[in-house]
Amino acid sequence: MKTIIETLFNQNNKIANMFALSESIVVYPGDCLDLLKTIPDESIQFVVTSPPYNIGKEYEKRLHLDLYLQQQAQVIAECVRALSPKGSICWQVGNYVDRGAIIPLDTILYPIFSGLGLRMRNRIIWHFEHGLHCSRRFSGRYETIIWFTKSDDYVFNLDPVRIPQKYPGKKYFKGPKAGQYSCNPLGKNPGDLWVIPNVKSNHVEKTEHPCQFPVELIERLVLSLTNERDWVLDPFLGTGTSVIAAIRHGRRGVGAETVSKYVELARQRIRQEMEGTLRTRPMDRPVYDPVEAGNSLTAVPWKRKDPKQMTLFEKRMMYRKERR
Ligand SMILES: C[S@@+](CC[C@H](N)C(=O)[O-])C[C@H]1O[C@@H](n2cnc3c(N)ncnc32)[C@H](O)[C@@H]1O
Repeated sequence: MKTIIETLFNQNNKIANMFALSESIVVYPGDCLDLLKTIPDESIQFVVTSPPYNIGKEYEKRLHLDLYLQQQAQVIAECVRALSPKGSICWQVGNYVDRGAIIPLDTILYPIFSGLGLRMRNRIIWHFEHGLHCSRRFSGRYETIIWFTKSDDYVFNLDPVRIPQKYPGKKYFKGPKAGQYSCNPLGKNPGDLWVIPNVKSNHVEKTEHPCQFPVELIERLVLSLTNERDWVLDPFLGTGTSVIAAIRHGRRGVGAETVSKYVELARQRIRQEMEGTLRTRPMDRPVYDPVEAGNSLTAVPWKRKDPKQMTLFEKRMMYRKERR
């Protein structure tokens, strides 16, 4: 018997340019608002994206913040129209920076979602360890994913995204439940703080795009917020990450991208995914820990011995002894 993935993608691994409910994979080369017009009402189970942050990246023109918010509001309203009643929207954002002052984008986007009647379920902190080194503030090492649903009756599958318990196999040792597991043997809820490496130069998924999100980040969302065969939409597709995460788990994927080199990159990565040759960081790989890996150079600065400081300290002790 054919698996869902084989059934869905048996049309010669076709990547369509235009949306139709009969397709399984769509990469629209153009503006997301034009794509959205072609998507029927309530047909998408999950919208997930990382929009331009309006910080002057090569693919965006820095706009006055009000105009940026107006544009985002238009896209969000169209996504909500296309969203199924049991569906979810996740907007993954960082900070807008204005002459050194940061404005967390989730805080200023929130009123747009709530104004459209959406309900916020989580504000997930995505923590990573690489990025710009700031000299006048602490370096930014997290971004957020704001998750909204259209109604109170929404899809949420916890089991496929459980993570290992801290004390697996722990059992009640007394009382009526003695001998039974005291925690869920399938693992624990991953919580709302996710430590997942971001896609920087040494990451296996790095392409020439300046801000991809990692496939594993979107896999966790796809597995928990959709069912097999559902549609996943990314209006700002970039290198195709959301579609890759969707089809990997037997969902359908659609996205728009305006920059032709990224459209090509997205198509290439999606093809590799279908052929099983796309290299990605697996969802269950622990984050590299230099101490655990035995790197002896890893020490906090205040524990390192500074020879000059030691000499001064020793001389002071000697001086004190002489005076006694
Ligand atoms: C932050 S990036 C998304 C990267 C993506 N998450 C990935 O993993 O590759 C935003 C993308 O949106 C694209 N973009 C900007 N405005 C757009 C629009 N109006 N319609 C479609 N794509 C747009 C940009 O070219 C850029 O590639």
